[in-house]
Amino acid sequence: MCGIVGYIGEREPVNVLVSGLRKLEYRGYDSSGVAVVNAGHVQVVRAEGKLTALEEKLKNQKLSGTIGIGHTRWATHGIPSERNAHPHTVDGVCLVHNGIIENYIQLKAELSALGATFSSDTDSEVVAHLLAQELKKTPDIFKAIQKIIPRLEGAYAILAMWEKEPQRLVAFKNGPPLILGVGNGECVVGSDVQALLSYTDKVIYLDDGEVACIEKDKYVITDSLGKELNKAIVTVHWTSQAAEKHGFKHFMLKEIYEQPLAVSSVLKKYTDLKTYQVEFSSMFLSPAQNTVSRITEQDLKNVERIFIVACGTSYYSAMYAEYLIEKLAKIPVEVDFASEFRYRDPVIPPKSLVMVISQSGETADTLAVLRMAKNMGAPVLSLTNTLGSTIDREADLHLFMEAGVEIGVASTKAFISTLTVINLFSLYLARTRKYLSIDEEKQFVQNLLALPSHMESVLAHDKFFAEAAETFKNYKGFLYLGRGINYPIAMEGALKLKELAYKHAEGYAAGEMKHGPLALIDDKMMVIVINPQDNHYEKTLSNLQEAKARGGIIVSIGTGDDASLKSVSEHYLSIPKSDWMASGILSVIPVQLLAYHLADVLGYDVDQPRNLAKSVTVE
Ligand code: M6R
Repeated sequence: MCGIVGYIGEREPVNVLVSGLRKLEYRGYDSSGVAVVNAGHVQVVRAEGKLTALEEKLKNQKLSGTIGIGHTRWATHGIPSERNAHPHTVDGVCLVHNGIIENYIQLKAELSALGATFSSDTDSEVVAHLLAQELKKTPDIFKAIQKIIPRLEGAYAILAMWEKEPQRLVAFKNGPPLILGVGNGECVVGSDVQALLSYTDKVIYLDDGEVACIEKDKYVITDSLGKELNKAIVTVHWTSQAAEKHGFKHFMLKEIYEQPLAVSSVLKKYTDLKTYQVEFSSMFLSPAQNTVSRITEQDLKNVERIFIVACGTSYYSAMYAEYLIEKLAKIPVEVDFASEFRYRDPVIPPKSLVMVISQSGETADTLAVLRMAKNMGAPVLSLTNTLGSTIDREADLHLFMEAGVEIGVASTKAFISTLTVINLFSLYLARTRKYLSIDEEKQFVQNLLALPSHMESVLAHDKFFAEAAETFKNYKGFLYLGRGINYPIAMEGALKLKELAYKHAEGYAAGEMKHGPLALIDDKMMVIVINPQDNHYEKTLSNLQEAKARGGIIVSIGTGDDASLKSVSEHYLSIPKSDWMASGILSVIPVQLLAYHLADVLGYDVDQPRNLAKSVTVE
C-alpha cells in the first residue's frame, strides 16, 4: 500500500507530485506529504488525513524546485499522524517508502547506538538514517544506496533524493511496484502507471533488486550486483483516466452504474459476436511485455486440477469460479486465501494450473503465491484489472477484467467483470474438453449478451435502498444467505457491508445456517436471502422460513414476480428472468446498493472507508 511519486524536470515538481498522489490515493489515505529540493535545501510539507489536508497546507507554503518526491500513506508502523507521514528527512537525505522493513528494530538499535535520533515511529525512517550514515563515507547517493540495500530485509519500494545532489533521484525496490516514466527532458516515477500517463506513455517497470538513478534527461538502471542493465521501454497504450464522478455523489455509485458497460467490455473481448462462441486466444499473449506464452492450448487441455488463489473480494470470485468450472468443465478446483495457501505447504501435483485473481495485480500474498507456484513448476494464469501490474507481468497466461479504473476502495465493477470473465472462461474450458456442444455454448453466450440490459433494470433498486437505508441502519446485524453460486455472492454482500457501513455482517451457505448462526437471529437481525429460480430454490426457501420463524427480518432477491418468495419476505427485490449463470451476476447489484446506501446514510466515507487501502502490497 502507500503511493509514491517522484519528478525531475522543468515543471514545478509540487504540481506533478500532488496530481500524481491524487491518482494514487486509493493506495492509502491516512496522511501524505511532498518534498522538493530548492537551492540545495530540502523543503517538506506533510499533513495528517486525506490529500486535501496537504493541499490546504500547500496553499500557504509554496514549494519550488526541479526535483521532488511525494507519498500517500497507509499506516503499518506508527499511527496515522503528521510525524509519521512521509517523506522522512535526515541530514538532507529525503525518502518515501512503500512496504515494510522487517529488520527495522535491529537497524534502529544499531543506528541509535551511533547517535541517531528518530523523529517518527516508522520503519521507513530507519532507511533514511542508514542512507545518511552511508553518505558520510560514500558521498554519492547512487553508490550509497547500493551499499545499504543488502542491509534491508522485507518488502520495499523507495524513492530517495539528497540535497547535495539535486540533479538525481534514486529508485529501488523489492516487492511493491515502482515504474519509471521517461519523458522529453523529464522523468516521473510512480507506484502506478496512472501517476505517469499525463507526462509520458514510455515506461520502464523496475524489477526486484534493481536500482535506477534518474536525471531529467537520462537514467541508469543496475541489477542487485551493480551491473548496468539495458531495460526495455514499454509504450503503454492507455490514457490517463480522469478521476471524475460525472455527477454521482461517490465514485462507488458511479462504478456500480458503470457495471453494464464493464460486462459489455468483457463480452466484447472474450466472445466472437458472429459465432456466439467464446474466444480466449489472447490469453496466450502478454500485451504488457509483447511476448507469447510458453504454455500452449494443448498444455491447458492436459490440466487435471486447478488451484484458484486470491484475497478479499477476489477470493469470493474464486469461490464462484469453483462452482462454474467444476459444473461445466468437470475439472477439480481448489480455492484458498493467498495468505493461507502460501504458508500451508500446498501440494501442487503435475498437470495443475494455478490461477491467481487480483484486481490491482499487486496484492502481496497473491503475488507470493504466483511466485511459489512458478517455482514449483506450475503454470500460472492471472486474472487482473491492471495491465502491466506485477502479477500480470509475471504470469504465464493473462486474463483481464476490462473494468476500467476503479477508484472506490470497495470493489464493485471489477468483481462483476471478474464473474463475467469466469463465466466465459468456464465455457471455454468446457468446450475444449467436449463437455459443451456448440449449441449449448451459443445459448449461454446469448444469455450473457443480454446481461447488460438486465443489469440496467436491476439498478432501479437504487431508489428502494436509498429510501430504505434510513430504516435498515437500525438493525444490529446482517446475515446474507445463498446456495450454489449465490453463496459466494452472499459472502461478497457481507464484506461490502462490513467495509463500508462498519456493521456486523455474515455471509453464509443457506443450508449451514441451522448449524449455528440461527442462534443469532431475532427481530434485530436482517436476513438477506439470494434466491433466484434455480435448482436450489426450494431448499433456500425452506432456510428462509427457518430464519423467519425466529423473527428475522427478510429481504429477498428473487426472479421476476415471485409471489411465494414475496409473501414470506418483508422486502422483495426482483431480478429479471435469465439462466442460472447470468442470474448470479444480477444478484450482486442489490447487495452492493444496500451497502452503499447504508454507509451513505450513516455518514461514512464511501469511497475511502476507514483503515483500508485498495492495493494491499504488505502481508
Ligand atoms: O487487488 P486485489 O483484488 O488482489 O485485492 C484483494 C482485496 O484486498 C480486495 O478485494 C478487498 O477485499 C476490497 N476492499 C474489496 O472491496
